Amino acid sequence: MDEMYVALLGLGTVGTGVYKVMKTQESQMQQKLNTVLRIGRILVRDPKKHEGEVDDPSVLTSSYEDIISDPRIRIVIEVMGGIEPAYTYIRDALEAGKSVVTANKDLIAERGGELMAIAEENRVDLRFEASVAGGIPIISPLKNSLAANEISQVMGIVNGTTNYILTKMTEVGMDYKEALQEATDLGYAEADPTADVEGYDAGRKIAIMASIAFHSRVTFRDVYTEGITKITSKDIGYAKTLGWVIKLIALARNTDNGIEARVHPMLIPEDHPLATVGGSYNAVYVVGDAVEDVMFYGRGAGEMPTASAVMGDVFSVARHTVYDSQGSTRDNVYRKIPIKRMDNIRSSYFLRMEVEDKPGVLATIASVFGNNSVSIEQVIQKNKIGTNAELVIITSEVKERHIRDALLILNSSSVVKEVATLIRVYG
Ligand code: NAP
Ligand code: HSE
Repeated sequence: MDEMYVALLGLGTVGTGVYKVMKTQESQMQQKLNTVLRIGRILVRDPKKHEGEVDDPSVLTSSYEDIISDPRIRIVIEVMGGIEPAYTYIRDALEAGKSVVTANKDLIAERGGELMAIAEENRVDLRFEASVAGGIPIISPLKNSLAANEISQVMGIVNGTTNYILTKMTEVGMDYKEALQEATDLGYAEADPTADVEGYDAGRKIAIMASIAFHSRVTFRDVYTEGITKITSKDIGYAKTLGWVIKLIALARNTDNGIEARVHPMLIPEDHPLATVGGSYNAVYVVGDAVEDVMFYGRGAGEMPTASAVMGDVFSVARHTVYDSQGSTRDNVYRKIPIKRMDNIRSSYFLRMEVEDKPGVLATIASVFGNNSVSIEQVIQKNKIGTNAELVIITSEVKERHIRDALLILNSSSVVKEVATLIRVYG
């Protein structure tokens, strides 16, 4: 095959990166792939807007029909984002015998199973390496290199935007809004950054990784998510004093009582390998019975790192197409493990609260915790807020439902003015 045509759906941050890598890799494709990839079509909403961004503006189109009906196009690269029309476009491409590479975690976390089945039926490939952790290879290692392991845990920092924000707040005392603006300007944030800062983006990524790691379908709806919008410089300061850092952690565990899948801020010890992962870098820490601990680290977002992951998939699919071995990758979800309720997970907790500054208050709070099976490990009281005191309590490990029950009582007690923060502690 002298040349092979691909179509690009989207020419935004990732699409532009893919376009650039296609150009820089062109001269080596023959040696690497035994064919040369050409961009046959690029789908965008407004072709006029993109005319100056491509060598040949005639490839730009706003009609998907131009792509689906073009028999030259063998691979469709979806980098538009969102559920629809992306789902319909990918399904139609697979049914038309075209392989698909996508960076779309929203779609894979929600309807990945359906699309994998359609790909298998039509004996074509569906790849989504870039949907998790940008430039870091993690989907392929979980599916292939670690396939012989019983994986018990996948824990990671998988959102570049929030890691960038927390790093800037921690290291240079930057204000949350300013850090979010910088992350957006650098192309890390989603079109609507709510998905980043509320933990939904990381939730989608951990759902995808958990499904592959545990061979049991985990969808975004199964993941407990909590974002970073309530984290303040005060919490970061206390964490530092205690030898911890605050990170947005995505965690999936395959336990005896089911799968735990959650995303929330977590206090982790300064010497934990994930503590030093800063800026837009991501890392995924996997525990398997044979390999033990293995960590993947790299750029989790941005134009070129994400394009690297997309193009890795495109190269692999192109090789399959040249040698006519498409459709050989199976979904590999073959068992059904229940999802554990968040109430039943165990953790220790960091709580920051504003309380009345008078004798007996600490005893009242301690008795509420005690009555709800929560034991206190550490209490810090150093700041005053007007006439009230700021109290930080670290609990021992306890089931989440006990801490929730205790907080319900404390929130209605006259001595507690506000429970400002609850952060789970690594353990
Ligand atoms: P983006 O900058 O917003 O670009 C989206 C592109 O898709 C634009 O060119 C847009 O066209 C086009 N598009 C959107 N909807 C369309 C429609 N209905 N019809 C035709 N064209 C449409 O997004 P992005 O940051 O590149 O992200 C793309 C995907 O990659 C998303 O799934 C995202 O989650 C994923 N991802 C992003 C990153 C990252 O670092 N940014 C990393 C990993 C994965 P117009 O320009 O004409 O509006
Ligand atoms: N918005 C995402 C992030 C892009 O910040 O990590 C990469 O998936």
